[in-house]
Amino acid sequence: MKKYKVGIIGATGMVGQRFTTLLENHPWFEVAALAASSRSAGKTYEDAVGDHWLMSTPMPASMAKMVVFNAEEDVEKVASLCDFVFCAVNMKKEEIKALEEKYAKAECPVMSNNSAHRGTPDVPMIIPEINPEHAQVIEAQRKRLGTKRGFIAVKSNCSLQSYVPAIHPLMDLGVTNALACTYQAISGAGKTFKTFPEILDNVIPYIGGEEEKSENEPLKIWGHVENGVIVNAETPNITSQCLRVPVSDGHTAAVFVSFEKKVEMEEIIQRWESFKGAPQELNLPSAPKQFLHYFREDDRPQSRLDRNLENGMAVSIGRLRPDKQYTVKFVCLSHNTLRGAAGGAVLMAELLCAKGYLD
Ligand SMILES: NC(=O)c1ccc[n+]([C@@H]2O[C@H](COP(=O)([O-])OP(=O)(O)OC[C@H]3O[C@@H](n4cnc5c(N)ncnc54)[C@H](OP(=O)(O)O)[C@@H]3O)[C@@H](O)[C@H]2O)c1
Repeated sequence: MKKYKVGIIGATGMVGQRFTTLLENHPWFEVAALAASSRSAGKTYEDAVGDHWLMSTPMPASMAKMVVFNAEEDVEKVASLCDFVFCAVNMKKEEIKALEEKYAKAECPVMSNNSAHRGTPDVPMIIPEINPEHAQVIEAQRKRLGTKRGFIAVKSNCSLQSYVPAIHPLMDLGVTNALACTYQAISGAGKTFKTFPEILDNVIPYIGGEEEKSENEPLKIWGHVENGVIVNAETPNITSQCLRVPVSDGHTAAVFVSFEKKVEMEEIIQRWESFKGAPQELNLPSAPKQFLHYFREDDRPQSRLDRNLENGMAVSIGRLRPDKQYTVKFVCLSHNTLRGAAGGAVLMAELLCAKGYLD
């Protein structure tokens, strides 16, 4: 099989670094270009990153000497070297929108980790196990952008990567209300304990914009395609609170859900354990064999023990029990920079490759 040449826009950042490690030995994708801000442009990747390498494995040797492009000025050059790009940059929303559209219009599809285009109705926001069919809107988006190949696809916010997959196999029970309190790792803010000492012995009860994303993005994921756009679902009614906690990686959520129909706890567990989506059926390279794992032990899932399950691509669930206000409550966990960011975007790209959108 031909290897797709890919670029990483924002390669020097926390998510960008994660992309380099995930793509180093990828069977389908080969990194052909790295890009970041003017601060990094023109330097080798290792010089641009300097002592800000945040991964636990070494920088991929094949990329250390690559010269970093200027993401904003070298669009044509990067597009000519790449079949598509991954994008994770720290810029203003309008700047990100414009940057991603520039790549798409240069006929270079964009797999985005940024939130800028998540609300754009013809930009699919894909969790590959849940809504792969939303890729259909790409044709309408290409018409709007005037492109043949170029388009933008986004992945959702990391906060909801545990509870949306957990609720999804239960949707036909008539999910009316859901409450999710998230306990989010510091890598979600691009930080480590070294760069974020004020989080030690502390909980910070505010993450800018996160509760809005946690409540609204699931409705796009559960939406349907109509006339070339995604029409958001109207239910469930979701409320959330998002807290930053002293954990390096892994977002946990305490979740409460109400159903219209009656259901036994064992049936819910069985639905989770047997749930499969397109990535498992297509045997995509980054797909977890089992997406949802249920732990029967009272003290699981735990961030340190369970975040890396199936290479950080699975979701761990535990503590399912009936609730006296909602129907049930449970706890779930997903790795925020793997499934919740770079890994989720790589899996989305694999899905879009398998479906022919990146040819
Ligand atoms: N961390 C997570 O878990 C997570 C999860 C999901 C989504 N995201 C999203 O992913 C994006 C990146 O997050 P991060 O944590 O990786 O941020 P980060 O560590 O601060 O990295 C930001 C990256 O953006 C680049 N950049 C900044 N200004 C730029 C410009 N004007 N032109 C081109 N590149 C520019 C930086 O390049 P220089 O090094 O050259 O400045 C760097 O490569 C954000 O939109 C974030 O919301 C993050």
